[in-house]
Amino acid sequence: MTTATAIANPNLAFIKYWGNRDNTLRIPMNGSISMNLDGLYTRTTVRFQLGLTSDQLSINGYEVTGKGLDRISYILDIIRGMANLHDRAEVISENNFPSGAGIASSASAFAALALAGSKAAGLDLSEPALSHLARRGSGSASRSIPGGFVEWQAGTSDEDSFAFSIAEPGHWDLVDCIAIVSTAHKKTGSTEGHSLAPTSPLQAARVEDTVRRLDICRKAILERDFEAFASIVELDSDMMHSVMMTSTPALHYWKPASLEVMSCVRQWRAEGIQVCYTVDAGPNVHVLCPETEIRNVEKRLREVKGVSNVLVARAGGPAKVIEK
Ligand code: PMV
Repeated sequence: MTTATAIANPNLAFIKYWGNRDNTLRIPMNGSISMNLDGLYTRTTVRFQLGLTSDQLSINGYEVTGKGLDRISYILDIIRGMANLHDRAEVISENNFPSGAGIASSASAFAALALAGSKAAGLDLSEPALSHLARRGSGSASRSIPGGFVEWQAGTSDEDSFAFSIAEPGHWDLVDCIAIVSTAHKKTGSTEGHSLAPTSPLQAARVEDTVRRLDICRKAILERDFEAFASIVELDSDMMHSVMMTSTPALHYWKPASLEVMSCVRQWRAEGIQVCYTVDAGPNVHVLCPETEIRNVEKRLREVKGVSNVLVARAGGPAKVIEK
């Protein structure tokens, strides 16, 4: 096999990853829990070709060079080392959702690359091995390899830092309504953001409290307890943004419309609607609710000032190799 195509969903973290113990290997300071986002995906084809002098990358039809390509070649080099292969590769990648605005396109991208690249190189890697490999490209990509609700155990080395499913996609009918307030590319990407995390005096306390938050979140998911889930998810998001805002230099990802959505969500929950929010390294707000609330929540979100669109995603499956 010299060519393979794979698709992977992005994922949304309920307990966030922010800050690395090892920036090169992307070993995180803390464990995290997420849900894969069905319907949103990166589709990537990797073709190793004799005679190519360098790796080539196209994303959504545009050729990418420089740092973007280097990041891909770094993963391809690991794959070439494992497979004892020397050919360079052509990588063609497409996202069906806006990238660079807190919808974790790097997670689906590196998960799809790890799977398509290793298959194209003739390797048949286990799920944990694929999860490590994807992690080397983007930490959160480790969580887009397994399906459904996923936990990434922080670990302390390359071998024990990988993700696994804690529940199948059908386990809980949670829906992510992504309130889009901007599709502009963020100024500070997460790789740089992770390296700033230790400059915040709040990061140590956030990390130290993570096992407690992971336990509450895991239990809430397994028991489908929305109330417990809502309070821990909002707390975790607010804690990560507190660290971001108190880093040097400070990172402010929220826009006025992000705050407007968060405040509406809290109000709706006080009125008895099962709904909560979480925000990644961008301004868009992920609004979570059970399937029974979706029509109401989506309609209300579309009426909030500053919300230009709402994308809806349910729990998705694992990264998959596809025929074409
Ligand atoms: O995988 P990265 O380096 O893009 O980091 C992701 C960071 C957050 O999305 C903010 C949190 C998370 O756990 O996904």
